[in-house]
Amino acid sequence: MNKRVFSGMRPTGKLHLGHLVGALHNWVRLQDSHQCVYSIVDWHALMGEYEFSGNIRSSVYDMAIDWMACGIDPDRSIVFIQSDVPEHLELQMFLSCLTPLGWLERNPTYKEQLREITTRNLQTYAFLGYPVLQAADILLYRADAVPIGEDQLPHLELTREISRRFNSLYSVNLFKDCEAILTQTPRLLGMDNRKMSKSYGNAINLADTPEEIQVKVKAMVTDAKRLRLKDVGHPDECNVFSYYKAFVSAKEVDARSWCENALKGCTDCKRILADEIIEFLRPVRDKRQKLEKDPAYIHEVLRKGAVRAREIAGTTMTEVRKAVFSASRA
Ligand code: TRP
Ligand code: SF4
Repeated sequence: MNKRVFSGMRPTGKLHLGHLVGALHNWVRLQDSHQCVYSIVDWHALMGEYEFSGNIRSSVYDMAIDWMACGIDPDRSIVFIQSDVPEHLELQMFLSCLTPLGWLERNPTYKEQLREITTRNLQTYAFLGYPVLQAADILLYRADAVPIGEDQLPHLELTREISRRFNSLYSVNLFKDCEAILTQTPRLLGMDNRKMSKSYGNAINLADTPEEIQVKVKAMVTDAKRLRLKDVGHPDECNVFSYYKAFVSAKEVDARSWCENALKGCTDCKRILADEIIEFLRPVRDKRQKLEKDPAYIHEVLRKGAVRAREIAGTTMTEVRKAVFSASRA
């Protein structure tokens, strides 16, 4: 039996190139070696977006389409919506009981989000417990490994602490430690060199048209020290070049050379990049368009995924209830 991988993504809008490089490429690759369980975690989205919950449903379907267009294969992987599997909430309840408040209050991601996000009120009971639901996601499927970005490492560490506490409290060996599978490629920045994010409007979406991609790439910030065509450039300090590394590896050496030797201008360099990204995304866009025309198929995939997920989740929950309620302790 292959080792099991679990990961989740919050449905908060269309996916962009950052998701592809940062997560989905890894997820697709892992399908060859692992049993993969991938969840669209709408309850996690709700914890942050409860005031704007009307958008979550449509984002769920957009996300399923984006995943499959990128190569997530529902015949090999279990793909499902978190809220179709109520066992996630039941396990979260059990885990909440034994999670000390201090662990959650100290969580760096939590503290950062309270500080950074001012447009929403996140001073809620649920939001503090976000990592407990995440632990439940992972432990429900007793995953061996979790492909995540570095920003999620504190959450994985909490998952391990919670699972160890469960095992030791109820004298069982139900949950095992899960390891992180981190992405190799460094994080892609947005068109303006800030973190790529939907809310900054600086991302190339998987669903963008060729025209949209051309406009966005043309506006990309380049090496600030290269003002004129005859100035030599510094590719390693230029965000455009990081896109060559991520998407146009066949031209990476050429691009370095034309930049460092001032053989091509930034406008040309970006035009070539735009064409390459358009070609790179063409099959994704084609597949996306086909899937969009077949909502019944998407629904069926997610329904079947939930059935398969619930089989595993149900088995775990039977053992969890037994461990908690029928343990013979003094
Ligand atoms: N917190 C994760 C994120 O924002 C999403 C997530 C929820 C997740 N549950 C998970 C990731 C379980 C990995 C495993 O990216
Ligand atoms: Fe950046 Fe390309 Fe201009 Fe070099 S030539 S500075 S890599 S945009």
